[in-house]
Amino acid sequence: MYSVIQKLLFTQDAEWSHDFSINWLRRSQNNVLNNIYKQKIEDKPVEVFGITFKNPVGLAAGLDKNGECIDAFAAMGFGFIEIGTVTPKPQPGNEKPRMFRLPAGQAIINRMGFNNKGVDNLIENVKKSKYTGVLGINIGKNKDTPEEEALSDYLICLNKVYNYASYITVNISSPNTPGLRNLQHGKALDTLLTGLKSRQKELENEYKKYVPILVKIAPDLTDEEIVDMSNSLINAGIDGVIATNTTLDRDLVKGQKYAEQSGGLSGAVLCAKSQAVVSKLSDHIAGRMPVVGVGGIHSGSSAKERIDAGSSLIQIYSSLIYQGPKLIKEIVESI
Ligand SMILES: Cc1cc2nc3c(=O)[nH]c(=O)nc-3n(C[C@H](O)[C@H](O)[C@H](O)COP(=O)(O)O)c2cc1C
Repeated sequence: MYSVIQKLLFTQDAEWSHDFSINWLRRSQNNVLNNIYKQKIEDKPVEVFGITFKNPVGLAAGLDKNGECIDAFAAMGFGFIEIGTVTPKPQPGNEKPRMFRLPAGQAIINRMGFNNKGVDNLIENVKKSKYTGVLGINIGKNKDTPEEEALSDYLICLNKVYNYASYITVNISSPNTPGLRNLQHGKALDTLLTGLKSRQKELENEYKKYVPILVKIAPDLTDEEIVDMSNSLINAGIDGVIATNTTLDRDLVKGQKYAEQSGGLSGAVLCAKSQAVVSKLSDHIAGRMPVVGVGGIHSGSSAKERIDAGSSLIQIYSSLIYQGPKLIKEIVESI
């Protein structure tokens, strides 16, 4: 069924297909039409950050930026769903076109630029959903907020989403918000982490519940940067790390149509690169902090390799577009 739908959608512009699908999932998620994508998947429970996940396969951030289709993705059988990236204020994102398919490597290039309807709208959508499983909320900063004031944007989002999230992801690795990736290093990183951790403590007291904070990192880091960053995350008491976001590397798709478009590259072509980051991270972290593996996972075997390399959980985005919901079942059954 998905292959027919996918063929039709692939005749259209990538972002148009995305918007059409999100609208359709939103409208169908709570009526009989959801039988088209609903599937029963055996439970494979895992416990990570003190949370029980019904299976370790999650939806990666960016597909449901506003949290409009949570019940639809739950019906597909994901073990957890991450919505966002959301920013304090709504913003339109970059100029279109800003999303491109590179089918030879089951890849996507995007430079969306955190287009989203803002954190208040996302919370309204979370309140409307019927989902009771694990929900991650991924937070970012508005484009017009100066880099030095990034912490205040993350704190606005942290305060607002705290009571609605099972865990919160701090996205400092999108390549499409100027300067964002600078927050991954040195003093900028330490200031951000300290500010978030101290606010987390206050919110824990206020809401009488502990919501873990994870940090999402880029695949374009040197080994030395991976070690430095994981030291900072561990020292700050961050609860987990999500590796990786999209890459700026174009060697992986050289010569292909759209390869020269700017933005972040994702999909099967990213598999080896993200796998290498997870291996390096896990070696260095040595069990002191859980790792969530994401980037190019496109089959049961690539998922298993990511888990064997040290990921406690995994996420997918691009391969869901290319292969459809049956991939979730295939992965859960093979890990
Ligand atoms: C169109 C698109 C938009 C994305 N938007 C976000 C985002 O808003 N926040 C984020 O943390 N990651 C975002 N990502 C990155 C994905 O969550 C994921 O880390 C990356 O695509 C690698 O996984 P994949 O190869 O399975 O797609 C986006 C990816 C794509 C393709």
